[in-house]
Amino acid sequence: MAKQITSRVSWVGKIDWELTKFHGDELSTHRGSSYNSYLIRDKKVALIDTVWQPYDREFVTRLAQEINLSDIDYIIMNHNEIDHSGALPELMRHIPDTPIYCTKKGEAIIRGHYHQDWNFVNVKTGDTLDLGDTKLTFIEANMLHWPDTMFTYMSGENILFSNDGFGQHYATESLFNDAVCMAEVMQEAEKYYANILNTYSMLVTKKIQQILSMNLPIDMICPSHGVIWKDNPTQIVEKYLQWADAYQEDQVTIAYDTMWQSTRQMAQAIADGIRQVSPTTTVKLFNVAIEDKNDVLTQIFQSRAVLIGSPTINNGISFAVAGLLEMMHGMKLKKKKAAAFGSYGWSGECVKEINERLAAAGLEVINDGLKMLWVPDEPALAQCVEYGREIARQL
Ligand code: FEO
Repeated sequence: MAKQITSRVSWVGKIDWELTKFHGDELSTHRGSSYNSYLIRDKKVALIDTVWQPYDREFVTRLAQEINLSDIDYIIMNHNEIDHSGALPELMRHIPDTPIYCTKKGEAIIRGHYHQDWNFVNVKTGDTLDLGDTKLTFIEANMLHWPDTMFTYMSGENILFSNDGFGQHYATESLFNDAVCMAEVMQEAEKYYANILNTYSMLVTKKIQQILSMNLPIDMICPSHGVIWKDNPTQIVEKYLQWADAYQEDQVTIAYDTMWQSTRQMAQAIADGIRQVSPTTTVKLFNVAIEDKNDVLTQIFQSRAVLIGSPTINNGISFAVAGLLEMMHGMKLKKKKAAAFGSYGWSGECVKEINERLAAAGLEVINDGLKMLWVPDEPALAQCVEYGREIARQL
């Protein structure tokens, strides 16, 4: 069912309460999500983005209850990943000649996905589309987070349609940020940033600075996932500027895997050592074989330092730790210190292996690491505590 945002703008998207995984198994979505599509009715009618393909018929059926589809003058595709463009083929079956406004890369992606010769209109930053009393201005946002991404600004209503930017995987029947639990929304927005956008942080900063320099009045930010930022909309812009600037809190995250509890015991003793020297520092421990990988990555994103532990397995490290390190590599983390630890029985490659991967991921490895033979006894655990104390001093 459509929901009114302003007298001219309605939400016509899909709330996906069931979504638990996104991008295949790459991203967990514990609180579901939404695919936000917006219908603008001025003298001309424009539709901004569609929804994910499994909901294409539902989307088009509901849209047709809201407006005669042939009355839609323009389709604006801010970004063409399938969660936003998936319903285009079904929609275009009804209105095949309607122009689709998108970037040049957007056209290439739509053609690559759907293999149709639709009526594309390529737009660049600064191009405008007059709707009557209001006007759309397009702002390319290359690599935020795909090459095709753009934002659309609507003057007259002062709305920035930002697609994935400022979004959150958060299902709610409430449209606006002032009607939901803000702690939950911010948690999801941070997880979204850490897992999807952090790798493009330099571009995030530049794009926000560019938009701020345009001096556009912004009453609302309407992303393509989650709630609309209506109450103090620039709060999420300020958060993005902080997150994009090598964000860190006074936190140390210890992420480990364990086979027979030896590496886990080491993790706990190291945590004790850090707390002894730096009692105000938040120290969090995660068994990465059990915990959600994206939640752990979000904790790493907000940490000053990261300690990674693994037992030695087949001359290497555990599958779960290797996966985490691979994802950390993709995040392009900045200004984070790191160290390794782990238990072993005979060959003991774990620490060397972790250190190499931490360095390759761009983290500052602050020591040679600590490895323990077999099950740590009291003196060995005391050594782990001292290792934690030394790390805290180095922070
Ligand atoms: Fe929500 Fe990049 O798609």
